[in-house]
Amino acid sequence: MDRFKIQGGRKLQGTVRISGAKNAALPAMAAALLTADTVTLQNIPHVRDIITMAKLLAHMRCRVESPDLPPSEFIIQAETVSMREAPYELVKTMRASVLTLGPLVARFGYARVSLPGGCAIGARPIDLHIQALERLGAEIKVEHGYVEARAKRLRGTTLRFPKITVTGTENILTAAVLADGETILENAAMEPEVTDLAELLIKMGAKIEGVGTSTLRVEGVDKLHGATHAIIPDRIETGTFLVAGAITGGELSLTDCEPAHLKAVIEKLRACGVEIKCEGDHKLHVRAAKKLVAADVTTEEYPGFATDMQAQFMALATQAQGVSRVRETIFENRYMHASEMVRMGANIQIDGNEAAVTGPTPLSGAPVTASDLRASAGLVLAGLVADNTTWIDRVYHIDRGYEMIEMKLQDVGANIERISGREE
Ligand code: EPZ
Repeated sequence: MDRFKIQGGRKLQGTVRISGAKNAALPAMAAALLTADTVTLQNIPHVRDIITMAKLLAHMRCRVESPDLPPSEFIIQAETVSMREAPYELVKTMRASVLTLGPLVARFGYARVSLPGGCAIGARPIDLHIQALERLGAEIKVEHGYVEARAKRLRGTTLRFPKITVTGTENILTAAVLADGETILENAAMEPEVTDLAELLIKMGAKIEGVGTSTLRVEGVDKLHGATHAIIPDRIETGTFLVAGAITGGELSLTDCEPAHLKAVIEKLRACGVEIKCEGDHKLHVRAAKKLVAADVTTEEYPGFATDMQAQFMALATQAQGVSRVRETIFENRYMHASEMVRMGANIQIDGNEAAVTGPTPLSGAPVTASDLRASAGLVLAGLVADNTTWIDRVYHIDRGYEMIEMKLQDVGANIERISGREE
């Protein structure tokens, strides 16, 4: 298993190109199942979850090709999809495999997808996906650890999600586009990744109104066709590099990003004293605070402060003057990084879903273990500012969602190395 070795204390300086958004690319790849034509997706990040989704589509007998190496464009053709199943072996490594449920049942009237089960950040059921598909007329059986959905043709309906769910909204949107009649989805997630998916579906011939709002109106069509679509920039990678510049006392330019998707994060970092300038539509410039001060954060659905930025913000808060109160409202168990940061010298008290981070505290390098994707990013950031050496174990978590993170950090001056399991 690979590890990261970080020698902290370097100010980061230079330019980082932001990659395409993993969480937009995954539903877009699943949406390719909706047509027999070719769907070409550009700006795909080269991360492990994308490789897993490509394997899943290939398992279903789709054609998945990429003209370049590392792949950033995928050509997907789901002409013959003889296997309409997402097996446990793939779903257990990536929950987003569940995104194939909606498109499969909508186009073929049958899907069998393994239940994802819990994960490090909480229980994460898919009951809302299942209930909504039932409302669209699918017959669902849950047995032997699998969800099996059948429908002659899904029927449009009006449904309100009892709780906002990102992949739930995406799954049902990709089902409703081929349903008979109109579907109204209320209390839908408004994350930019949902909007990006809706834009791809519209290019494929879907009829969707209310894109970007919490009410999506879908007029089902009989057939969708191929399309070419460039995936939006990754707002969480962007936010992570904003914190990397700020926490190391450095100055970074981030290109190919979408500042409009990061309003809540930018506002909070500015409240901490970090200087952030938008330079044109797709460029951000971050300069560390003269004096970093504490700020409170509550994670919320978009357009609020993203739960996927909570661990990175916590790393920054350990270096800010005063007490930062962090409240996690999306996932019940998303503080696994906190105890590792405490082992590095941070002062963090957890009480239920609230964490009080008192700073600034000097961090000292230590061996730590990554527990999930964003927790790992938080630990990398802590390692960049810690004295001496930080070893991060289980970096396969970070490889799931950050494209070449150690190379991007090295290019702007960080002392970070990947130590491959085989070299030990
Ligand atoms: C998406 O997960 C993202 N994943 C997550 O990113 C992100 O943290 C999360 O949205 C919140 O923004 C992808 O897009 C692939 P939810 P998702 O359904 O869709 C509960 C990362 O690091 N819920 O919006 O699975 C759920 O337990 C990942 O890139 C139900 O109770 O999240 C949670 O408390 C991690 N029943 C809340 O809703 C359901 O059927 C929101 O979860 C569905 C969800």
